[in-house]
Amino acid sequence: MRIGNITLSSNVILAPLAGYTDVGFRHLAKVYGAGLTYTEMVSAKGLMYENENTQALLVTSPLERPSGVQLFGSDADIISEQAGKLDFDIVDINMGCPVPKIVKNGDGSALMRDPDLAYRIVKATAQVLHAQGKALTVKFRKSCDGVIEADEFAKVIESAGADAITVHGRTREEMYRGKADRQIIARTVKAVSIPVIANGDILTQADYLECMDMGCSGVMIGRGALGNPEIFSTIRGIEVETSKRDLALEHVQLLRPHFSERYVVNAMKKHVCYYAGGRRGSRAVKEAVFGATNYDSLYEAIMLIPD
Ligand SMILES: Cc1cc2nc3c(=O)[nH]c(=O)nc-3n(C[C@H](O)[C@H](O)[C@H](O)COP(=O)(O)O)c2cc1C
Repeated sequence: MRIGNITLSSNVILAPLAGYTDVGFRHLAKVYGAGLTYTEMVSAKGLMYENENTQALLVTSPLERPSGVQLFGSDADIISEQAGKLDFDIVDINMGCPVPKIVKNGDGSALMRDPDLAYRIVKATAQVLHAQGKALTVKFRKSCDGVIEADEFAKVIESAGADAITVHGRTREEMYRGKADRQIIARTVKAVSIPVIANGDILTQADYLECMDMGCSGVMIGRGALGNPEIFSTIRGIEVETSKRDLALEHVQLLRPHFSERYVVNAMKKHVCYYAGGRRGSRAVKEAVFGATNYDSLYEAIMLIPD
C-alpha cells in the first residue's frame, strides 16, 4: 500500500489510541507486521508551547520507518506550522475524536461539522508536508451531528490534498457503542480515488478480507491490538507463537530508556491488564499490577500472567 510517495510494508495499520499507543507498544506492533503506526493524538497547540507532556508522546522506535504522528487542533496556521517541524514521514489530522472536551473546542470530530475549515486545515498542512516529501492523512468518522456523511466529507478532504483517509464507521454520537458501519466505508471508497483505510471492529481475517473486497487499501486496528500486538500477523493468516508474559516484559524494556520509573509503571498498568486478558489467573495479575509502585512490583505482577 502507498500513501503519497511512501510505501508501507503491509496494509494493516495501528490506530492512534490515547493512553495506549506508546513507543513500546508501537514497536511491538511493528515487530508483528504493522505496516504503519501512529502516535496517539498530540495537541498542535501543545507542540507550539513546547509542553513537556506533549513532547513525551513524540518518542519513536527505529522500527517506525515510515513513522506516523497524529495531530489534533482546529487552527490551520498552527497545525500546518507544527506539522512542518516534526520529524515524521506521515502526519494524520484527527477529525474523529468524539470526546466532549475536544469537540467543545472545535477539534476532533467537530471539524466534520465545518467542512470549510477542515478544507483549509488540510490544504495548508498538505502544502507544507508535500514540499518536504512527506504525506498527510486524515482520520474521521461516519458523521458528526448529521451535518455531512463520510463519503461527501472525504471528497472535501481529497480536494484539499490529503494522501489517504481513514474512516471509522461510527457517528460521533455513537462514540464507541454499537457496531461500526462498513457500508459507509464502502460508499467512501467509491467517492474518492485516494486510498481509504477502514476502521472500526476489525478483529479477524474475515473482517480484513471483507474490507479488501470493498476496495479499501488497508485496515486500521485499535482495540483489537491491545494486549495483542500479534494481531498484525494473525489478521493476515500468519500464525505466531507468543507468550503474553514475554510481550509485557519486552514492552517494559522498550519504555525504560525513554521515561521515568513512575511513568513506565503507570503506563504499563493498563497494558498488563490487557496482556493478562480474561484468562484464568488474570484477576491476580490485575490486583498486583494496580498496587505496583516500582519496577520490582511491576515485574512481580507481570510474572503472574498465565501462560
Ligand atoms: C482508549 C482509546 C483511545 C483513542 N484515542 C484515539 C486518538 O488518540 N486518536 C484517534 O484518532 N482515535 C482514537 N481512538 C479511536 C481509535 O483510533 C479507533 O478509531 C476506534 O477505537 C475504532 O477502532 P477499533 O474498533 O479497531 O478500536 C481511541 C479509541 C480508544 C478506545
